[in-house]
Amino acid sequence: MDQRSFDLFLEVHRGLPRQAPGSRSSTQRALELAGALPACPKVLDLGCGPGAQSLDLARETGGVVTCVDNLGPFLGELAVRAAGAGLAERIEPVLGDMAALPDSVAPGSYDLVWSEGAIYNMGFDAGLSAWKRYLAPGGVLAVSDLCWLVDEESIPEPARAFWTENYPAMRTALANRDAMEAAGFEVLGDFTLPPEDWWANYYTPLLENLAGFEAKYAGDEAARAVAAAERAEIELFREHGEAYGYVFYVGRLPR
Ligand SMILES: C[S@@+](CC[C@H](N)C(=O)[O-])C[C@H]1O[C@@H](n2cnc3c(N)ncnc32)[C@H](O)[C@@H]1O
Repeated sequence: MDQRSFDLFLEVHRGLPRQAPGSRSSTQRALELAGALPACPKVLDLGCGPGAQSLDLARETGGVVTCVDNLGPFLGELAVRAAGAGLAERIEPVLGDMAALPDSVAPGSYDLVWSEGAIYNMGFDAGLSAWKRYLAPGGVLAVSDLCWLVDEESIPEPARAFWTENYPAMRTALANRDAMEAAGFEVLGDFTLPPEDWWANYYTPLLENLAGFEAKYAGDEAARAVAAAERAEIELFREHGEAYGYVFYVGRLPR
């Protein structure tokens, strides 16, 4: 994607409640799987985006949440939301690369490492392997990743074609669970995000942004291509969303 297309992509995505499917109740459900945490836990949220889940983690755990993203505009949205929610003192935005975390993020020091809808940027196995070193002994990792929910032979062709192009490393839900075990985690549980997590906080607001965007850039070819790609993804989910979904995995390291 060239710079102008990326800027247009960002414009469509600005101001959304979330930048991936998710919800407060799914974050809570994953936290329940994590079990008891220390009082005021240290939490690391990787690929936090505008941080809906970061704020929920601060509220639910009572801890301090270090929030890493490589896009400043999303961290700006997070800072405004944290201040509005009275959580600014427990939300620490960090501009950085999830694959090469800055020195301020200390290895072996986090009770909980979290990532919703972002591990695909590194790949599931590479993310697990890189991030587990930031956990304290007995610490918990919770990640959501896009997976096939049906057997290989039942994948609808339009969905296969779209995701082979957009997320070639996408695997089955079971393969990711096995990979988490192989990476040294005790899998505490996993679950698939419900369809309303896609619509309520992500695709419906995105469709609203798209309507304004298309009106603003009528006749602009690059903008038309950006909008068409977004609409194609949404229509694919409407048609074939039973074949794939975000699965949340929660695993613990040995003490
Ligand atoms: C699909 S969004 C999910 C954001 C957020 N977790 C949510 O659910 O709303 C993925 C996020 O990962 C961030 N990201 C992508 N590559 C990254 C990298 N190498 N380091 C840090 N953040 C990255 C993007 O900027 C984006 O905010």
